[in-house]
Amino acid sequence: MKSSSTLALLASASAYATPLTAPSDTGSHNASVVFVPYEYTYLLPETFSSNVNYTFVNGTHTSNASINSLLQTAAKSPLIAYDTEFSNIFGSKPEIQLVQDRTTQNDRFAFEAGVWVPERNEVWFASAVSQADVRPGTVYVYNLDSGHIGPLNSSSKVHNPDGGYYFEGKVYFASYPGPANETYRGGVISVDVHTLQVETVVNNYFGLHFNGVDDIVWVYNPANRSEKYMFFTDLKYAQQAYPNAPPPMLPSSIYRWDPQNEILRPVVSRNDLEPNGIRVSPDMKTLYIPDSSSIYGTLATGPATDSWLGPFIYAYKLDEDMLPSSRTMFGQVRQGLADGIHVDDKGRVWTAESEGVVCRNSKGKVIGVVNSQYFEANKTAEALPIANFALAGNTLVVLANTRLWTIKTEEILVGRNSTIVN
Ligand SMILES: *[C@@H]1O[C@H](CO)[C@@H](O)[C@H](O)[C@H]1NC(C)=O
Ligand SMILES: *[C@@H]1O[C@H](CO)[C@@H](O)[C@H](O)[C@H]1NC(C)=O
Ligand SMILES: *[C@@H]1O[C@H](CO)[C@@H](O)[C@H](O)[C@H]1NC(C)=O
Ligand SMILES: *[C@@H]1O[C@H](CO)[C@@H](O)[C@H](O)[C@H]1NC(C)=O
Ligand SMILES: *[C@@H]1O[C@H](CO)[C@@H](O)[C@H](O)[C@H]1NC(C)=O
Ligand SMILES: *[C@@H]1O[C@H](CO)[C@@H](O)[C@H](O)[C@H]1NC(C)=O
Ligand SMILES: *[C@@H]1O[C@H](CO)[C@@H](O)[C@H](O)[C@H]1NC(C)=O
Ligand SMILES: *[C@@H]1O[C@H](CO)[C@@H](O)[C@H](O)[C@H]1NC(C)=O
Ligand SMILES: *[C@@H]1O[C@H](CO)[C@@H](O)[C@H](O)[C@H]1NC(C)=O
Repeated sequence: MKSSSTLALLASASAYATPLTAPSDTGSHNASVVFVPYEYTYLLPETFSSNVNYTFVNGTHTSNASINSLLQTAAKSPLIAYDTEFSNIFGSKPEIQLVQDRTTQNDRFAFEAGVWVPERNEVWFASAVSQADVRPGTVYVYNLDSGHIGPLNSSSKVHNPDGGYYFEGKVYFASYPGPANETYRGGVISVDVHTLQVETVVNNYFGLHFNGVDDIVWVYNPANRSEKYMFFTDLKYAQQAYPNAPPPMLPSSIYRWDPQNEILRPVVSRNDLEPNGIRVSPDMKTLYIPDSSSIYGTLATGPATDSWLGPFIYAYKLDEDMLPSSRTMFGQVRQGLADGIHVDDKGRVWTAESEGVVCRNSKGKVIGVVNSQYFEANKTAEALPIANFALAGNTLVVLANTRLWTIKTEEILVGRNSTIVN
């Protein structure tokens, strides 16, 4: 049943399977990647069982004690590889650093966006809008050279920030509308990375405010690079994010802003999905868009069967008019839904799911997981999942709610001159 390469992987797994417990103080250490044979994801010894509310490695048991033991080792380790493509990204002993921990303050400061600004070597990220009744949504700046973290001192406040995207010297933020008793109505805003000047890009559709712009991507036409478009997702659960948020006025959609011709139009309807994150492949030919319909069933965990639509990651081809056309299914999330999404220069698609940051190669194979059970403080199956992260050159920045982590990679995930710095 087992191929010799599987046995080789098992042997190496036991050689460097060093279970680690997450440190409670900030600091760095070098951890190991634990291999789990990919075969187990589709073929297990008979009499296996698994709990849909727990991760694959934590919740799956078989009649074979050595397999159970390997899965439990993986459940406690920071990085789980199903393919050497994943372990090669990190090397054998990647350096992992807990940069800041605000768990005791219960401050979910590291939650959304995760935008690398290459010319400043900074990652800009956003706090959880859902704590807006206690702490206003804030954009933070983490300088990868100095280690400094502080709020973004932009020309004016970025209200209720959510997803973001770097493009041509500006960071574009998705922004939720303010509570019904306030005048701010959300939209897409840009921040110039040199002057920190804030501008509103779009904020309405014929007078109707967006429900909650969630994420953004810029693309250019590969046949004419000066033709550029911004796609963004507008989803209805902003209303659930904080008290008194205004009710939705528009159907959930994906919009495209065409600055050349000054046209804002919806391009994917809610008949297709309830969109969340959005990213493009390095060749500008495919949009990746997760469906978060299943959020209405259970947020952090739970059976996808609660929703007819579901926790899928779709791939849309961009046609010659740069409109999303034929759709194929690229991935299916095992636990929770795919929230934050980033694509690397090799066309791998990284998504924040309840299991952690899941990496699929361009063929759609799950090659590894940045394990949330390790990176979240006292993670339980009920805890809020990691929502987003950043691919910053040779650093993966994990936004683990109350904790900010970095993991060094051997490979440059996204180069500073990449067309998809994101
Ligand atoms: C961790 O690995 C890095 C190289 O990736 C090395 O520079 C550093 O010395 C290592 N630290 C420890 C504690 O082994
Ligand atoms: C999974 O979680 C749901 C919601 O909390 C619960 O109703 C269900 O019993 C759980 N299933 C298992 C197998 O624990
Ligand atoms: C791991 O499994 C245990 C039960 O064995 C459960 O209590 C715990 O919540 C699970 N953790 C995660 C992160 O799924
Ligand atoms: C358990 O699984 C391992 C790995 O596939 C295998 O080498 C071993 O023979 C199995 N043990 C039993 C008792 O089947
Ligand atoms: C913004 O200004 C405040 C007050 O001077 C400072 O504490 C903070 O570090 C600054 N933010 C950044 C990113 O430098
Ligand atoms: C809006 O309502 C919230 C909750 O009641 C309150 O905290 C906030 O101060 C109000 N804002 C304004 C501008 O009145
Ligand atoms: C490329 O796109 C730009 C912007 O829309 C346009 O002005 C220009 O004419 C296009 N070039 C060609 C060769 O079509
Ligand atoms: C995790 O839980 C333990 C036991 O409840 C507690 O002592 C510890 O402070 C918690 N750690 C964090 C980072 O919250
Ligand atoms: C990236 O672009 C900058 C500015 O155009 C240039 O100086 C640098 O050499 C480029 N770096 C790489 C790795 O291509």
